Amino acid sequence: MRKNIVAGNWKMNLDYNEGLSLFSEVLNMVKDEATGAQEVVVCSPFIHLHSLAQLAKGNGRVSIGAQNAHQAESGAYTGEVSAKQIKSVGATYVILGHSERRQYFGETNQLLAQKTDTALANGLKPIFCIGETLQEREAGQHFNIIKTQLEEGVYHLDADKFAQLVLAYEPVWAIGTGVTATSEQAQEIHAFIRQELAAKYGQQVADDTTILYGGSCNAKNAPELFAQPDIDGGLIGGASLKSRDFTDIVKAFN
Ligand code: 13P
Repeated sequence: MRKNIVAGNWKMNLDYNEGLSLFSEVLNMVKDEATGAQEVVVCSPFIHLHSLAQLAKGNGRVSIGAQNAHQAESGAYTGEVSAKQIKSVGATYVILGHSERRQYFGETNQLLAQKTDTALANGLKPIFCIGETLQEREAGQHFNIIKTQLEEGVYHLDADKFAQLVLAYEPVWAIGTGVTATSEQAQEIHAFIRQELAAKYGQQVADDTTILYGGSCNAKNAPELFAQPDIDGGLIGGASLKSRDFTDIVKAFN
């Protein structure tokens, strides 16, 4: 059965000490809780990864992830960080295909397919993001866009490899805007994604895939979103930068 997960995406926020303090607070707050998300993932900037992984050691519920990884194994790519390097400091997840990477760094579905392969080959679990822009939604293109992102980004994987992925539906118009998709809008897309996965990989794989919602998710709207049958947790931006807000979202599962 699929796991429910709440993942924080710190984006390019927090200096080293700020990151460590926030993470220590989060660890303290989630450690004794029997309720809430089964897994908590914190996706920090590269500079924090090693220290966070050390702090999380021995905590079976909390994992660490990066926010990007290069598609090559290694080599002359000044300023880039490889999947192998990320894995070597104790991180186990990597966000791939975030709309900010697609928009500001020109990441295409084809490039993301390569990044996915390299991440998996190095033992990292991708949190693979998909989602439509406002313009695409208004043009009624959202289902097509999502289908294409899946087809071109991850459908080259066989079922065993695909089973390592977590998917995240993040409508671009809901990211950082304070406008959340309604639980009906989010559920409609999540159900569509699961139906697409069933057609491609079979019902079992579809049922076992964790699909997160991201975009202005907060402690207030999380309970209703997470109560939807096909929403298995959240990928949290702004609200992951405050320990209380983030852990309240973690506890939004009951
Ligand atoms: P916000 O929660 O700040 O809208 O960001 C969502 C996001 O992009 C998570 O990856």
